Amino acid sequence: MNIKLVEKKISDIDADIKIEFISKDELSESEEAEILNSAGFKAEQDTTCFLYEKRVIFCGVDSKKSDDIRSAAAAMIKVLKSSNYTSAKVSAISKSSLGALVEGIVLGGYEFNEYKSEPKKATLENIFIAAQDIEFATLEPIFNEALIISNATCFTRDIVNRAPQEVNPQTLCSIAQKLSDDNSLECEILQEDGLAKEKMNAMLAVGRASIHGSALIHLSYKPANPKKIISLVGKGLTYDSGGLSLKPATSMVTMKMDKAGACAVLGMIKAVSELKLDIEVHAFIGAVENMVGGDAYKPDDVLVSRSKTTIEVRNTDAEGRLVLADVLDYAQDAVNADYIFDFATLTGACMIALGQYTTGLMGHSHKLKHDISRAGSDTGEMISSLPFNKHLKKLLKSEIADISNTASKPYGGAITAGLFLDKFIREENKKKWMHFDIAGTAYTETPWDCNVYGATGSGVRLMCGYLKNL
Ligand code: BES
Ligand code: ZN
Ligand code: ZN
Repeated sequence: MNIKLVEKKISDIDADIKIEFISKDELSESEEAEILNSAGFKAEQDTTCFLYEKRVIFCGVDSKKSDDIRSAAAAMIKVLKSSNYTSAKVSAISKSSLGALVEGIVLGGYEFNEYKSEPKKATLENIFIAAQDIEFATLEPIFNEALIISNATCFTRDIVNRAPQEVNPQTLCSIAQKLSDDNSLECEILQEDGLAKEKMNAMLAVGRASIHGSALIHLSYKPANPKKIISLVGKGLTYDSGGLSLKPATSMVTMKMDKAGACAVLGMIKAVSELKLDIEVHAFIGAVENMVGGDAYKPDDVLVSRSKTTIEVRNTDAEGRLVLADVLDYAQDAVNADYIFDFATLTGACMIALGQYTTGLMGHSHKLKHDISRAGSDTGEMISSLPFNKHLKKLLKSEIADISNTASKPYGGAITAGLFLDKFIREENKKKWMHFDIAGTAYTETPWDCNVYGATGSGVRLMCGYLKNL
């Protein structure tokens, strides 16, 4: 499906179907008010009414603001794709909502069909967006930007959605290598011998029972004279069985998504390099598989991490923080960044705390939290801050090592996981670091907003929005 911005009035565009966004207030003034009324269409947000004979799809919206347009466009595109028409047209409602319109169409129309023997054949070929009464030159860059970010989000979704027997840590390495070739990025990969030289024993322990070697991937995008340097760190558990602290059968299903942080970070650096932003971006990924076996790491093990901090393992299912401990430590040596952001499907507790629709944000800088929350409102990705405190920090105390990988009480589990990571952030970097727990938002089994079944690509739109405005 192609989506094109055209410098024409909507009436001058030749297409099978016209798309119209309409609010409750506008309903009575519509030319089709009578038919819409008799069809029982009330212009509720995310409802559609397809007038086949008139060749119009009406899409209900609460307002013409970005969040409502994005969500309504996502509902509309599914209806349109299930028809046999080949083209549709819609007018660019406003400069401020054009990006959301593109995102709604691309992300809401996303399908992952790689494993279907007979995927549904989509007939829809073209969607034209009419610049209408707004100057084309002001819309074009917004359109191109939204397309790059939406496609990067789909790139992330595609990797997360692939099955774990196919995407293992070594596959992640090949995917990163290909992205680096395609987008002229630098790529450095440490295989297990390299990890051992770096003394990344926490990360190595997690991957030891897997038949696939663990790897650290470092991609960099380096424009000339960058304004800022950013390090992005991603949890890349290509499968999380829980290890010897085995997950119950029903909780294990969907754990291919435990690589979503890594895949988000890949999507972000892809987008940033295509947007040609003048900031240097480094992506660090800990690619590991958490399995069981005779060689598996165990509850009671004490690991000496790269930073020399010793860690008592009390639960092998709290593996993401062990991998991130070493990758964060490595990243702080490799690059002197202005900001360090990590993305991880880290805790079920984050989902309990905030629900499935909101990413948990943790860190020490109020200003960073504020700026990132702003990017959240601008991009329509919901984020909420979870506050650190000294009492929760004490729950990570270990009797025999420097820190335990599991808090002694389950309450506040997302925050204690964030506080565990904090232990590996150096004093001079405390205010530069933010942790994003995307356990709830990275994957969904029930479609919502512009997210369809499976991976959502959460984090990509948010970070692109933040970095664009740096
Ligand atoms: N990958 C999981 C967290 C997760 C759970 C992500 C559900 C997405 C959906 C993580 O490695 C994990 O298992 N965390 C444990 C930590 C606990 C053992 C302290 C959890 O959340 O139960
Ligand atoms: Zn786990
Ligand atoms: Zn995990």
